Amino acid sequence: MAVSSEHRRTARQVWAQQRAQWQVAAADALDDRDAARFLARVERWYADAFEPLSLLYGQVVDVGDLVDELLDSVLGAAAARPHALRLLDDTREIDPEWFLDESMVGYVCYADRFAGDLTGIVERIDYLRDLGVTYLHLMPVLAPREGPSDGGYAVADYRAVDPALGTMQDLRRIAATLRDHGISLCVDLVVNHTAREHEWARKAIAGEQAYRDYYLMFPDRTLPDAFEEHLPEVFPDRAPGNFTWVDVLDAWVWTTFHDYQWDLNYANPVVFAEMLAIICDLANVGVEIFRLDAVPFTWKRMGTNCQNQPEAHLLLQALRALVRIAAPAVLFKAEAIVTPDDLVQYLGAHDLQRHECELAYHNQLMVLLWSSAASRDARLATHALRRMRTPPPATTWMTYLRCHDDIGWAITGEDAAAVGVDEFDHRAFLIDFHAGEVPGTYARGERFGFNPVTLDARTSGTAASLAGIEQALERDDDTLLPAAISRMLALYATLYGWGGIPLIYMGDEIGVRNDYSYHDDPAHAGDNRWMHRPRMDWQAAARRRDAATVEGRLFSGFRRLAASRAATPQLQDMGATTTPLHHDNPHTLAWLRRHPRFGGLLGITNFDDVPQSVDADLCADARLGQPRDVLGIWPMTLRDGRIHLPALSTVWLTDG
Ligand code: GLC
Repeated sequence: MAVSSEHRRTARQVWAQQRAQWQVAAADALDDRDAARFLARVERWYADAFEPLSLLYGQVVDVGDLVDELLDSVLGAAAARPHALRLLDDTREIDPEWFLDESMVGYVCYADRFAGDLTGIVERIDYLRDLGVTYLHLMPVLAPREGPSDGGYAVADYRAVDPALGTMQDLRRIAATLRDHGISLCVDLVVNHTAREHEWARKAIAGEQAYRDYYLMFPDRTLPDAFEEHLPEVFPDRAPGNFTWVDVLDAWVWTTFHDYQWDLNYANPVVFAEMLAIICDLANVGVEIFRLDAVPFTWKRMGTNCQNQPEAHLLLQALRALVRIAAPAVLFKAEAIVTPDDLVQYLGAHDLQRHECELAYHNQLMVLLWSSAASRDARLATHALRRMRTPPPATTWMTYLRCHDDIGWAITGEDAAAVGVDEFDHRAFLIDFHAGEVPGTYARGERFGFNPVTLDARTSGTAASLAGIEQALERDDDTLLPAAISRMLALYATLYGWGGIPLIYMGDEIGVRNDYSYHDDPAHAGDNRWMHRPRMDWQAAARRRDAATVEGRLFSGFRRLAASRAATPQLQDMGATTTPLHHDNPHTLAWLRRHPRFGGLLGITNFDDVPQSVDADLCADARLGQPRDVLGIWPMTLRDGRIHLPALSTVWLTDG
């Protein structure tokens, strides 16, 4: 704290000396009104940038000069910001908590797999609006390397769009069109690494020392070996180890992911400056939310797993402050698939309490929903989720059931032990169950990243296939299918009723199953995550109005979820908390949502395939005098002092 307040004082002094100079610069670059606003933002955020930059780079550069240089870039971006986006900035500054609204619903897709290309998205806006979507995450859109690119996460040019999808101009247009329809655009920003074909890497290969310094290179195995002792492997089967020998460089290069993804060296302030400029440029194209890919990995420290280092947070804090000055409408979303205690730090809940990301994926909820469904037992979820810290003010979770990645079975030993479960056995059960290998399983998934030494693995598969829809359709079984549909909807109903922004992963709303054709594509074969990255099945989607079809039942369920959520102010996130409740039925998850203004909501999900009941006293605990289900998908009855739920169902009870 002492260090921080000292840096803050210094920051204030430096700014006081520089204010006059920046007043002139702002007046040159912007009109009166925008100059005044720009200066007000610098005034507000200067120390928030200066402090972390001092801690990061104070030893290698003069921080006053560095901030000056970064502000110059930020002012350039502010001056280049299109008029429509300045208006958006105004709106967002007036209502900075817009994204905490109960009407928010997100959708995640690959532009090509959903709509052919970027311009194709325009024709699908009505479809998205029908689902209540207000936020669209287009999976990697920036120019990747040719050949294998880890699904676009090996970026060769941050300032160009993947030619297969369109152009930067198309991205600009689609962002504007989405905005006109009340949908905010989110794109991936791969901050931890570039493709080895990126211009910086090519210049490093050409022998330019300045660019070698953009990456982490080692002449021999001494340091890599020492680091490796504490580093996990992300892709143990396909890309073992964290370093790659590159002949032309005569060096080992740090490659956490694949050998063609070179980790950036954030100890070099020039790399920070480059990334800041890239973010500002893309913000000016109309990106409203940046999904910061693999952020936990950005800072390396010997003797650690090189994730979640304090400096990784300082980097985000400095970026946050500076981007706020240039483009205040922009939000940051952390892709940090880490332990719950580490995760909440990305929302700024650390000792320093400086702003960081506004959004982060709620990985725990996702894992525990699948775990509860498979074991028909929610006790582990209740225990583990009770331990999660509430996101700090003005931040929230992104809740999700599936995404383009595999599911890592992040169950801690402590949580498992607390409910009498063996951590390793349970993880093995989840892996086998979702690979369709446990008697009675309904899931059709596959192991991902199997580690023959630890026997650990993650899981691939679409939500519909993992929830039993694929199996039920294959067996042509009239009882299995309604159960699988109900399971899928109950899982989604839990996350829609949890708080945070729920995300629909493309195709889940119509039950798109695993796509096994990836085996035929040399760029994808060998990475079974492509199994759950199917093309949108528009023929199936055409059946979405027909209540007799799988698509019809799911789609109308998703519409109901969005409508019920938008009509339930308890799900607004300003000051609200979500707490799972211990109760008397292991098959059900009960959670209490408390909103300071709008009161309580008691959510209950029955993971069992037979009806279950819970003690109605839970309603009293939630202060619901007259409990009423505001979700309205499954019938709920109150009798004999118990709340009765059908098999595989969810209710959201409020005081009615
Ligand atoms: C993120 C992406 C994942 C990718 C990795 C490396 O975790 O979600 O798909 O493999 O980053 O960029």
